[in-house]
Amino acid sequence: MVRKTLIAGNWKMNGLLEDGLALAKDVALEAKKRGYKNCEFLVCPPFTLLSTVKKALRGSKVALGAQDCHTATSGAHTGDVSPQMLKDLGCSYVIVGHSERRANHHETSALVCQKAESAHAAGLKAIICIGETESERDSGKTIAVCQKQIKESVPSDATAQNTVIAYEPVWAIGTGKTPTVADVAEVHGAIRAAISQKLGKAVASQMRILYGGSVKPSNAAQLLSLKDVDGGLIGGASLKASDFMGIADAVCQK
Ligand code: PGA
Repeated sequence: MVRKTLIAGNWKMNGLLEDGLALAKDVALEAKKRGYKNCEFLVCPPFTLLSTVKKALRGSKVALGAQDCHTATSGAHTGDVSPQMLKDLGCSYVIVGHSERRANHHETSALVCQKAESAHAAGLKAIICIGETESERDSGKTIAVCQKQIKESVPSDATAQNTVIAYEPVWAIGTGKTPTVADVAEVHGAIRAAISQKLGKAVASQMRILYGGSVKPSNAAQLLSLKDVDGGLIGGASLKASDFMGIADAVCQK
């Protein structure tokens, strides 16, 4: 089985109703025009836009995802959203463990693991984010940090169907800085090895590993066409349909 390239947009906390609707419509239209066979498109708007975006994506090949979920199915968790609620709204994916949540909401790998497991139980695919900080990279700990995060954040029920890994060096997110192509290749290889150790070789060979962090149309071909890179998790450049599609144009084929 070939791993299908995933071009995923993480809109973060951006967009009011009108902008979100316009962006979703543009992405749906452009994706349809292109008709790439080996690429899957996904957009992950903020909770407030999920319903609106779902309607705008109707009939298109673009999937809908959320940016976070709670571990429980329902209950006394003020302000939280359960994976069942996301499924109910038409989501098929949810991002868990993004570094902004790990840093700003003190999410541990153990919690991220539980979130992924709950997402799976609700029938959602989990995009589990990992990645080293700048000081970890500077002290030569990148591979060890990523392997530990895989070990601790990926639940044992993970399969290539219900899980995607996103490698996002924290220092590359929103900064315009990216690792070298050789670094990305090395880290993705090490991540696949860690998945193999945890879930077996067959699962590891099929599981998609995305790269994220300052991906734009001009660097996408270099960063996303490597052997162990199966697409991108795109932040800033996913907020403009032309940039998001420019990234797809650099890596997808008809
Ligand atoms: P960026 O964000 O593309 O703006 O660097 C990526 C992400 O945080 O998912």
